[in-house]
Amino acid sequence: MFAAKKSGDITSAFAFGVKDELPARYKALKDQLRPNDIQKAWERLLAVYEKESERIQKLGSSSVTEVNFKDILANNGRFPEETIKELRKSGCVVVRGVYEREEALGYKQQVLDYIAKHPGIDGYPANNPQIWELYWTKGQAKARSHPNFLTVSTALNQIWHASEDAAIDLSTNVTYCDRLRIRESGDKSFSLSEHVDGGSVERWEDPEYRKCYQKILDGKWEEYDPFDATHRVDATMDMYDCGGGCSMFRSFQGWVSLSDVQSPGGGTLKVCPLIKETTSYIMMRPLLDDLKDSSDMGGSRPGSQQLLSKEQHPHIIDTMVSIPSVHPGDCVFWSADTVHAVENECNNPTDSSVFYIPVAPLCAINSKCLRRQRENFDKGLTPPDFPGNNCEVDFDDRAKPQDLSDLGKLGMGYTRFEEKADMTKGQREAIRTANSCLFD
Ligand SMILES: [Fe+2]
Repeated sequence: MFAAKKSGDITSAFAFGVKDELPARYKALKDQLRPNDIQKAWERLLAVYEKESERIQKLGSSSVTEVNFKDILANNGRFPEETIKELRKSGCVVVRGVYEREEALGYKQQVLDYIAKHPGIDGYPANNPQIWELYWTKGQAKARSHPNFLTVSTALNQIWHASEDAAIDLSTNVTYCDRLRIRESGDKSFSLSEHVDGGSVERWEDPEYRKCYQKILDGKWEEYDPFDATHRVDATMDMYDCGGGCSMFRSFQGWVSLSDVQSPGGGTLKVCPLIKETTSYIMMRPLLDDLKDSSDMGGSRPGSQQLLSKEQHPHIIDTMVSIPSVHPGDCVFWSADTVHAVENECNNPTDSSVFYIPVAPLCAINSKCLRRQRENFDKGLTPPDFPGNNCEVDFDDRAKPQDLSDLGKLGMGYTRFEEKADMTKGQREAIRTANSCLFD
């Protein structure tokens, strides 16, 4: 039985400004994990990092991979080869025109009407919300179950791979219900400093999560594959009940833009578009000479997302770029370990608004979360990973299961997943586990 989360807002997932020392067991953990030749591996990494950082700073926003949705459609639902190559290096991608402009603007209008009809909905900041505790608007439900979103999420899951036995089906995506942002022009109250989702100390502390990064911990970061999902399947990303932690494996976090957002300066997302080297940097950082005799885990706080700092991660902070300008219907996606942030000020001529819609392949942890999420959707409660404000429980005009299309029902776990003839042992296991978790 899972307890509902305490009420809160988007800041519940972070431990900004907390500086107290971590328990001594983290020092012992580092002694166990530290490879003998880490200093040499670090020097090799910095040599590459400095070159890549210079390249990215010169390119600015154009270092973020871009593709048109119609080029994915024209390529049988897969990214073009050149895009795959770039995306595996950058870890993030803007996909243009996933939704029609008018469709995306219509979703936003529906949300604005809903907010106007129900005064007093919670959000951050409390006195003038920019991030709303809303999950079940009809606009969000439609956007999540749009056939084009299914196409793009399936293409994104195919960037990943897993061993034949790993119980994951990368050809099936499920719906993760996240909140939304309607950021006003001129807003300075909402910003997020550089961080990585998916927990913090867990990357070192959980034995299975740690296996994702084993090559780095062996001192062979060059061989690390950021898109191998094999050990993500059973990784524990939330050992300390993070207030806003995500209990699903999201292969990519993402959003759809509901506005014309200028870049830089439009109050938009910033990313570090270099995935293998950046993850290697973060994983090695607390094991280096200057930190190895302390319990400091590179700024990690149990129960919080991984925050980065200029003191400990200067190369990464210097490599952050704002994503390119986006328009209503464009989507941006960043991989599970991508460092990201939100611009401090929204100097866009209009609002800078998004629905957060991540990508989540079918596997056991995602099936479990799907079941709990479905129960909350039935009752109109906040989804299980989010602060338990339950703002929409009494709203008759919220989205309900009967509003979902067939695709929407499948993604939300209302209908059974089907095995296909060419599936691996691991894919079949993921489907059987999902069906028994959802229907037995
Ligand atoms: Fe985040």
